[in-house]
Amino acid sequence: MSDADAQKQAVGEAAAALVEDGMVVGLGTGSTAAWFVKALAARKLDIVGVATSQATAELATSLGMKIAELGETREIDLTVDGADEIGPGLSLIKGGGAALLREKLVWEASKRCVVIADAAKVVTTLGKFALPIEVVAFGHKTTSLRICDALAECDIGIAPRLRLKDGQPVRTDGGNLIYDAACGRIEEPAALAAALKSVTGVVDHGLFLDLADQALIGGPDGVRTLEP
Ligand code: 5RP
Repeated sequence: MSDADAQKQAVGEAAAALVEDGMVVGLGTGSTAAWFVKALAARKLDIVGVATSQATAELATSLGMKIAELGETREIDLTVDGADEIGPGLSLIKGGGAALLREKLVWEASKRCVVIADAAKVVTTLGKFALPIEVVAFGHKTTSLRICDALAECDIGIAPRLRLKDGQPVRTDGGNLIYDAACGRIEEPAALAAALKSVTGVVDHGLFLDLADQALIGGPDGVRTLEP
């Protein structure tokens, strides 16, 4: 197992230890969140999971966990999820796994959100990881031009690229498309978030600001905790 994978496993297990019997738990998406789901299932608690993607729902049910749709349960007590970058104040880039919309819906419906990641995800300025932007398929090329304008308003002079897999556009669980914006440095994440949200056709973006309550970060010396 690589060092990064060992760190992902360690933070997944540490996060699973935060869950208590009777909780409604938001289940993130990605390789780190999968370690969390596996460690949580192994605890055999009486909990209900709310999955942030079809892939996570399938993993959780295959491990015998109870799953409910968002809104079918009382409020989510705790959501645990991975991230692609963790910046100052626990500002995040998410969506590398194309699940950003469902993730954000679940995060925003949660009393507490804990982000888990290996040490390489912690950065001083967001933006090295290309920012995922989810757009509706209808008219997406036109929408991408308007995204360019929104980026330019924030002094980011790049064009977002349609995410492809095996030569075909990646579809999210909701049937939308993803554009990735290789911003380089995002000096003002809140301004960029607002500019992107103002574009018709943009469903959401991978900037998660003021949402994470705590981060568990893996490292060679074990798991450390970060607060906003
Ligand atoms: C999925 C995500 C993931 O949390 C993010 O991509 C991190 O994934 P991994 O844990 O595999 O590094 O946002 O949309």
